[in-house]
This record gives sequence, C-alpha cells and structure tokens, in this order.
Amino acid sequence: MTKGSRGRLAEGPRIRTMKKPGQMTKVTWYGHATFKIETPGGKTILVDPWFQNPANPTGKDDVKTTKADLILVTHGHSDHLGDAIEIGKRTKAKLVATKDLGAAIVAAGYPKDQFGTETTGNFGGTIKALAGEVSITFVPAVHSSAVDDRPAGNPGGFLITVKGSGTIYHTGDTDLFGDMALIGKLAKVDLMLACIGGHFTMDPTRAAEAIKLVKPKQTWPMHYGTNPALAGTPAELAAALKKIGARTNLVAKKVGESILLSTPL
Ligand code: NI
Ligand code: MN
Repeated sequence: MTKGSRGRLAEGPRIRTMKKPGQMTKVTWYGHATFKIETPGGKTILVDPWFQNPANPTGKDDVKTTKADLILVTHGHSDHLGDAIEIGKRTKAKLVATKDLGAAIVAAGYPKDQFGTETTGNFGGTIKALAGEVSITFVPAVHSSAVDDRPAGNPGGFLITVKGSGTIYHTGDTDLFGDMALIGKLAKVDLMLACIGGHFTMDPTRAAEAIKLVKPKQTWPMHYGTNPALAGTPAELAAALKKIGARTNLVAKKVGESILLSTPL
C-alpha cells in the first residue's frame, strides 16, 4: 500500500461487510458468572458453569444437555466450579485453569486426562486452543480460591480471543484493581463480563471504575441477584458509569439470553 492510499479519499467509501450469524461468536448468560461461548468454528466454551444457580430455571436440563469442548474455571468456589465436574465427565471437555486450581479440581473428581499442559497456564500466559481458533490469557483477580476446604491456587479471570470475533474478558470474582488498566492497554476488550454484586466482589461503584480502566466496547454485568447479599444491580452500574464519565455499551440481557459479537469483517 502506498502512503497516499491510506487516506479515506484514496481508499474510497468504506464498505462494511457484516458477518452472518453463523460466522459470529455467540455468548449466552445462564445467570451468576456462567457463560457459554459458541465459536464460528462450531466449538463451545463454558466459563464457570454453575448452571444450577438459583436464577436459572433450566439448570438441571442444561447440565445434562449443554455441549462443551472447553471448560474454563476462574477459581475454586462452588458457585464457579459449579457443575464443571459432571459436565466434564459427560462431554470429555478439557479443563482450562491455572495449574494449582486445576490440580484441586482434578482431586475433586474432574477427569485427570482432560487437564494437561496444553490447557493450563498461569497469570500473564496465553494458550492456544481449539485448533488455534481461540487463545486464552490467564489474568489475575483479587479474591480467594479453594475447592471445598482444599487450597486451590490463586483466583483469576480470562481473556478469551476468538479468531475474527474479538476478545472477551471474564473478570471472575474480583475487587477493582489498578492493573486492570494494563489488561485494557494490552488487549482491546470487546466484551467485559463484569461482576457487580458486591459483598464478595466489587459492587457497581467499583465495577464502574474497573470498566473505566479496561475500556471495553460492551459490558455484561454478572454475579448479582443470585443471593440476597449480591445486591448490586445493572441500573446502579449504569448510574455509576454516568457519574464518572465512563463509556461502554451495557448489555441488558436476561438469564438464558444471548448476544452475537458483531465485529465487522
Ligand atoms: Ni468466589
Ligand atoms: Mn462467586
């Protein structure tokens, strides 16, 4: 490309070719921190699969029927490990977790041969998965981690990049921390799945500051309403964002609903 061709005039009108639904990544929320990510290549990634959470009326069936190629777990608490072991046994999905956390999950019953070097890492590291369609970076969280009463490494979050679709940041359970600015600096986050419930994690006020640091195009609030202690609401998040002048498109979807990551070709 010559220097002159980079200008808008030389390039001519910009043509936006939108992808068809089957070529886009579909993200579905099942309540709490449980998300399903379906890739254009036809693979299914589950994050923190607690399908049987109180907000999901179809949890029992979802555990029996949901497909999975990869199961990502942010930390060992039962509201995140959730139904991972049962689904892992049924689907043969590989477990993606940091080393110590994964070892604790295997000790709790996850099939040992479904957690190996290729799907483990540690903070700052990136793994390629699903024949290169997906890359996953392990990022820290400020929280705790145990599987029942067993120590289970450190808590984390995930940056999940689906080739041609964009990057999703699942915060896990965390407080606001300043290094979130580096997460947003090093990755262009298209969708942030952000905990907002308070009590065990950041509340809407702190989550708004987190969003200001990460600068995601869209934000899907999660980890609220499943327990009376998790009292933060999306409306409070919207008000807190406005107050500090932070911009993001808030995803207003109910449990069981989906969005398509609509990155233009
Ligand atoms: Ni937790
Ligand atoms: Mn939690």
